[in-house]
Amino acid sequence: MQKQELIDALNKDLAGELQAIIQYLTYSAKVTGPWRPQLVAFMQTEIQDELLHAQFLAGKIAALGGDPTTAARPVPPADTAKAMLQAILAAELQAGKDYTERAKHADDFGDKGLAVQLEDMVRDETGHAEETQKLLKNWD
Ligand SMILES: [Fe+2]
Ligand SMILES: [Fe+2]
Repeated sequence: MQKQELIDALNKDLAGELQAIIQYLTYSAKVTGPWRPQLVAFMQTEIQDELLHAQFLAGKIAALGGDPTTAARPVPPADTAKAMLQAILAAELQAGKDYTERAKHADDFGDKGLAVQLEDMVRDETGHAEETQKLLKNWD
């Protein structure tokens, strides 16, 4: 994989992290229902992880000579707690898939440090997805 291809791919990942930050921020502001306190706490904790991912990606893109994107992927609209959790689950599963692929790209490019970091991020996103699946179980 060429450097520019890797930069472009990492910028797509960064756009996904910016989406995740805005998604958790907006959903935690809007979510209603009996589980609001728990959901707000859950989402606000997730923001911190996604912010660290975004900071890492922006730093790495700059280190590679690229320009970190400032454009987030669009946040799916959701008005109920369940719809929010479903949209969160889709985004977390996508992130896990993207970082699994990106870690291979980093290895192919010859940057082992990046590959290891991306694999750590696969672990984080898998954890986020599993927590969200548990929240959604028997939700009705
Ligand atoms: Fe993330
Ligand atoms: Fe995540």
